[in-house]
Amino acid sequence: MLALPAASHLVPPDFAPGSVWLVGAGPGDPGLLTLHAASALNRADVILHDALVAPEILTLAGPRARLESAGKRAGQPGRGQLALNERLIALARQGLRVVRLKGGDPLVFGRGGEEALALAAAGIPFRILPGISAGIGATASAAIPLTHRGLAHAAIFVTGHDRTGELPADLDWTAIACAAPVIVLYMALGTIGAIAAALIAAGRDPAEPVAFLSDATTPRQKTRRATLATAGAVAAGIPSRDPTLIVIGPTVGLADLLGPLHESAPMRLVPPPQASAAGA
Ligand SMILES: C[S@@+](CC[C@H](N)C(=O)[O-])C[C@H]1O[C@@H](n2cnc3c(N)ncnc32)[C@H](O)[C@@H]1O
Repeated sequence: MLALPAASHLVPPDFAPGSVWLVGAGPGDPGLLTLHAASALNRADVILHDALVAPEILTLAGPRARLESAGKRAGQPGRGQLALNERLIALARQGLRVVRLKGGDPLVFGRGGEEALALAAAGIPFRILPGISAGIGATASAAIPLTHRGLAHAAIFVTGHDRTGELPADLDWTAIACAAPVIVLYMALGTIGAIAAALIAAGRDPAEPVAFLSDATTPRQKTRRATLATAGAVAAGIPSRDPTLIVIGPTVGLADLLGPLHESAPMRLVPPPQASAAGA
């Protein structure tokens, strides 16, 4: 079904047995995968994928690939990072081509660095394939120009919780408030009330616009708007299982001008022709 332009002159690099590729799956829309990622999925023997990776993307797995769920969703237990690192190493030592498929970009709040360090320490060859991080993909999909000339010369990516689920203790919110007009928060649904209060205390305008981008780039994409003053209350109404990116700053308002004509439909999965015919 996927009709890519004829690209026979594009030769993918060797994916050697016994190696692990840490692959970014992007924010959800299969159309936002890289060609490298699609090629790796097609050639992998085993794919360990995050829970957040869309089923549509997993359909790109080659016929011999075995799929294993590796990641955890908000509020649900995962298999644990150390056990996951060991699993990657064990699969590579079996001589398999291993894809570790991670939501967004593997190295942006995704613990890909920890997995790469474990592979390096175990002497396993690996490759890191970047993906479109939610901070880039979700904002584009919601027609929010992250940095817009004249409004924002800087944007800063921040995580709203640490490994215990609490507000990271090592973040200086006064410095963050002053550092960039646009603040992009990952994993901050549970802490945005405290973050907004800290930003207001540091001088940010309580009327500043805030966007909550949930399930961005998927058919379930939903945008909710708030101000810094109301952000905590709006967050309380969003299910914690919905992956949500929070954007604070002046460029959020540009979505009001751009949104009406902006097209953001993702690639869809339809049944193969023979299945439709059989079901008719
Ligand atoms: C563990 S972090 C992983 C981030 C990922 N490595 C990336 O580069 O996007 C998960 C968080 O990313 C954000 N996120 C990921 N996918 C998203 C999506 N489709 N829509 C909105 N936010 C998303 C949410 O803040 C979510 O809680």
